Amino acid sequence: MASGSSLRKSLAIKFDDELRFFKGWMDRPKAVGAIIPTSSITARRMASVVNSASGLPVLELGPGTGVVTRAILARGVAPEKLYAVEYSREFVEHMCHAFPGVNVIQGDAFNLDRTLGEHAGLKFDCAISAVPLLNFPTSKRVEYINGLLDRLPVGRPVIQITYGPLSPVPARRGEYTVEHFDFVIRNIPPAQLWVYRRVGRA
Ligand SMILES: C[S@@+](CC[C@H](N)C(=O)[O-])C[C@H]1O[C@@H](n2cnc3c(N)ncnc32)[C@H](O)[C@@H]1O
Repeated sequence: MASGSSLRKSLAIKFDDELRFFKGWMDRPKAVGAIIPTSSITARRMASVVNSASGLPVLELGPGTGVVTRAILARGVAPEKLYAVEYSREFVEHMCHAFPGVNVIQGDAFNLDRTLGEHAGLKFDCAISAVPLLNFPTSKRVEYINGLLDRLPVGRPVIQITYGPLSPVPARRGEYTVEHFDFVIRNIPPAQLWVYRRVGRA
């Protein structure tokens, strides 16, 4: 059980993150997409897809203030094996300070070749995305998921959080499978988790 002082410290971090996140939402509501960070329960569900035994790095998109980052690291991923791509300069500064060793990269998750730069050739174990997709046309969402799947071994997952009832990315010509992974009510708003994978030829 947590001691009184460690509980106070983690509550203070949570409150601080929530304020920072809310300010980010006030500045850029569409890009931030939620008024408070994902719950730690949802974050743990998202991070549960990580296979830390693969030895491959993990790709996180839209870390914000880092609740999902924390859950990924808790899966046993070394900080230097985590690449987190975030658009907002303020969130990037916070992430660099809060998660030393994690490769926090400022840039657009829709343009990963450019954003990842010298790391663009890396293969990742999985991709964990909280980037809001619903403001974009379907063709751009499909391109986004394909761009992530291109960086994973066949069969490994991209997991995406969304708040609508349907997958934000439709199945397309058998390019990848779409699986409803979970519905997490203990999240504001309640969250849907979707998984996309390429399937190998038999
Ligand atoms: C819904 S918030 C999720 C934040 C955090 N992962 C969480 O779950 O609490 C979406 C995050 O994606 C970032 N974002 C939005 N569009 C992006 C883009 N094109 N490239 C990279 N990050 C983006 C936002 O700045 C924000 O931090």
